Amino acid sequence: MSDGTPRNRIVLEEPEEAEIDIPPVDDGIEALSAAEPSPEPRHAERRAYYATTPIFYVNAAPHLGHAYTTLLVDVVTRFHRLKGDDTFFLTGTDEHGENIQKAAAAHGKTPNEYADDVSAQFRTTWDRLGVRYDDFIRTTEERHKRVVSEVLQNVYDSGDIVYGEYSGLYCVKCERFYTEKELVDGKCPQHEIEPEFRTEANYFFKMEKYREWWRDTLTANPDLIRPERYRNEVLAMLREPIGDLSISRPRSRVPWGIPLPWDDEHVAYVWFDALINYYSVLVARDAVERYWPVASHFIGKDILKPHGLFWPIMLKAAGIPLYQHLNVHGYWLNDERKMSKSLGNVVRPLEMVRRYGNDAFRYFLIRDMTFGLDASFSEVAIAERINSDLANDLGNLLNRTLGMLQRYRDGVVPAAGAMEPEDVELRKAFTDLPAKVTRFFDSLQFERAIEAVMEAVRKANKYITDVKPWELARDEADAARLDTVLNTLLEALRCASILLDPVIPGKAHELRKQLGIRNAPFDLSNASQWALIPAGTRTALGEPLFPKFDLEALQKEIEESRAEPEPPAPLEHKDEVAIDDFARLEFRVVTVEKAEEHPDADKLLVLTVRMGPETRTVVSGIKAHYSADEMVGKRLILVTNLKPVKLRGIESQGMILAAENAAGELSLVTLDRDLEDGSEVR
Ligand code: MSP
Repeated sequence: MSDGTPRNRIVLEEPEEAEIDIPPVDDGIEALSAAEPSPEPRHAERRAYYATTPIFYVNAAPHLGHAYTTLLVDVVTRFHRLKGDDTFFLTGTDEHGENIQKAAAAHGKTPNEYADDVSAQFRTTWDRLGVRYDDFIRTTEERHKRVVSEVLQNVYDSGDIVYGEYSGLYCVKCERFYTEKELVDGKCPQHEIEPEFRTEANYFFKMEKYREWWRDTLTANPDLIRPERYRNEVLAMLREPIGDLSISRPRSRVPWGIPLPWDDEHVAYVWFDALINYYSVLVARDAVERYWPVASHFIGKDILKPHGLFWPIMLKAAGIPLYQHLNVHGYWLNDERKMSKSLGNVVRPLEMVRRYGNDAFRYFLIRDMTFGLDASFSEVAIAERINSDLANDLGNLLNRTLGMLQRYRDGVVPAAGAMEPEDVELRKAFTDLPAKVTRFFDSLQFERAIEAVMEAVRKANKYITDVKPWELARDEADAARLDTVLNTLLEALRCASILLDPVIPGKAHELRKQLGIRNAPFDLSNASQWALIPAGTRTALGEPLFPKFDLEALQKEIEESRAEPEPPAPLEHKDEVAIDDFARLEFRVVTVEKAEEHPDADKLLVLTVRMGPETRTVVSGIKAHYSADEMVGKRLILVTNLKPVKLRGIESQGMILAAENAAGELSLVTLDRDLEDGSEVR
């Protein structure tokens, strides 16, 4: 410890009918919309909108959780484009750090090769899901590294980065240190594994200094972090000292990172590197002025702390203005637990798309999650949603309308006559929607935006039942009335196709194609206008937009697949070490003479162990698994030459060995024959 800075520090992680080519369907995944919204107004007149996803780690293949945030941002940015905003959508991959280094080694690859492979998988997945991102950043790209170095150097020059030492409990998966309070049953809440004890010399970012500024700013700006519950969470973090943040790792241990510009023995901590992506891309594209003031980050609640605490303070220290919004969503749960690779309960998005179709999958994800809250994933829920909303409500409206048009008017759009009150009412239900949907999008209530459109669609179905066009068709005297009714329904469908375009772009395009207006340009304002389909337009009733699912058969299939045992997940191995390195560690047999609960920590026991002529004090995080009483007399293996560390005020002179399974159960390592205390273990 060289600089005398406070020790309260956090080290964290880490017309029509002209043909348009639609891309070929090669793998059961539908091609997406080929018709574009109307030509865009000139740049300067348009409002800018910039949205980002987290950049995903390349140590895991894309799963439903990653797909959710990415599809959500795709929906939101498509909506902004529909409004005519000058929209920029950024996603990418987070490629540095210890975890990636280890995962690459476990696959027998260099970090570079490994990152290339997995990053490409993300891009392919997004392309196949029809995600229209404007840029894809990889943190290993020069354009990013350059900006990270600049930002780091600026903050260092301003005196907000200092050198120091830190010890604590570190989750290797999160690549961050945890405070005891943050652990659940002594384990990392994300990965449910026990952290390692680590001491490291690092550079620290003086975050604490900015705590009050950030608390005041957040208090004065209620919509900076949304929904409110997450803003409150950050405000709660700011009530206590936030400490200083370790922003480097020794290069000797983690070579896979961006070297600090003033000390290349250290690399930037992966979070300090990663967060800057949101900004570095704009610098590289010379678009900071245009987009940075309107930056809207979308993230899951797992990474609230880096985005809600570190990032704004980093920006402040670097003299960069704040982002406009941090939008935080909940988790997709599978079997009640967060879907994640380490818990082994992930769902693969492309698999879902193959079974249910791209648009239905997107629709389900956006409709069935209330933004900010957790949601439970199930395939039965997807199929139910398809059957009710997409097949029964929307698909049926199209089928009935075009079916009647075919039967009564040869499939050709008639001109509307005088409107009756029920027609006016239905028109209003649709033309009011753009304003409503915009409000819901602006307040992150995406599921309500969809529900508002579907409510109007259901009204249109009810209108058919009420007006009974088949009765009008029987009497020539009602011909003009029937024309108006059919025209009203077609216009309703046109409006629905625009409003739903961001969510189900492929099917919305298909809908317009069946309406005979596939090439007509459109924007959001067209959904508040009426009578835009020219009389005489020829429609083309096609296949049902969304075929219904046989729920019973699906349920049976799922039960059968559950009955098959899951193959065990492959083990993740650490880097190889030479025998000489292993020989530097000393292990000995010990007997526990005394065991007490730690006076200042919930999860620790203080053990006095005998090792031949010596006794030692060992502080161990096993209290959730063993009581103090049952420890006395146990014969264990102690790592004796670890540098002593203080744990909550008591010095620990070694570490006892224990095995732990995937469920987090613990078993102490002991002897199968009696050998005397102090015997060496090799
Ligand atoms: N690399 C960091 C982010 C750096 S951003 C500067 C990271 N990567 S991650 O691959 O772990 O992705 C985390 C994000 O994936 C979450 O914040 C969320 O957007 C998404 N999700 C991962 N699992 C999820 C669920 N189970 N449910 C919903 N979203 C989830 O953290």
